[in-house]
Amino acid sequence: MNMPEGYGTRLARTLTMSPDPAIYTSGETWQDERRQVFAASWQYVGDARSLARTGDHLTASFAGYRVLVVRQSDGGLKAFHNICRHRAAPIVEADGYARSAVLTCPYHRWAYGLDGGLRTTPEFGDVAGFRCEDHGLLPVHVEDWRGHVFVHLGDSPESLEGALTDLPGLVGERPLERCELFDSWYVDFDANWKFTWRTMSRVITCLRFTPPSMPNWNQAPS
Ligand code: FES
Repeated sequence: MNMPEGYGTRLARTLTMSPDPAIYTSGETWQDERRQVFAASWQYVGDARSLARTGDHLTASFAGYRVLVVRQSDGGLKAFHNICRHRAAPIVEADGYARSAVLTCPYHRWAYGLDGGLRTTPEFGDVAGFRCEDHGLLPVHVEDWRGHVFVHLGDSPESLEGALTDLPGLVGERPLERCELFDSWYVDFDANWKFTWRTMSRVITCLRFTPPSMPNWNQAPS
């Protein structure tokens, strides 16, 4: 293929130099990214082994979206937007793992079953035409890949296996299912997500900041 003159140089500059600063500060860009990146791709949310028993659930947040993943009595997983159908309060407020037999909104105590169905609406009274079965939690696609839980907010997502591209092949026969959550830690960065991602994912940055005490940080265990 014949490339326009100077194309290679321009491409190299685009890949290696700083992009337009506006992509880090524009609210419009951020809203586009929420919809077109985070809500349109599989997102890792947690560890399936921590959801072993009926009613175990995890909550996770990304890009302003809140999701709730619940272990069902038949052993499967269901996921929902973590938003009450009454006044949109979060059903489970803190991110993390917990267990309950019923999912009760802390605001006005609407109660949902583990399958997301609305069961009771205390003190709501008789509202003409209102039916609990029309106001269950809004479902989200969920997959358990080898013990790791992913969700997708879109209507008809690509398969998770397809989205993982070459990761399954790279992992191979390693016993991923036996991995347990050992610890977790969270860091709040007062920065646009792309800045954080770019800084953390670039090998040249790791090489610059990896301490001498970790000389073999980038080598596979023998
Ligand atoms: S917002 Fe959940 S019960 Fe009112």
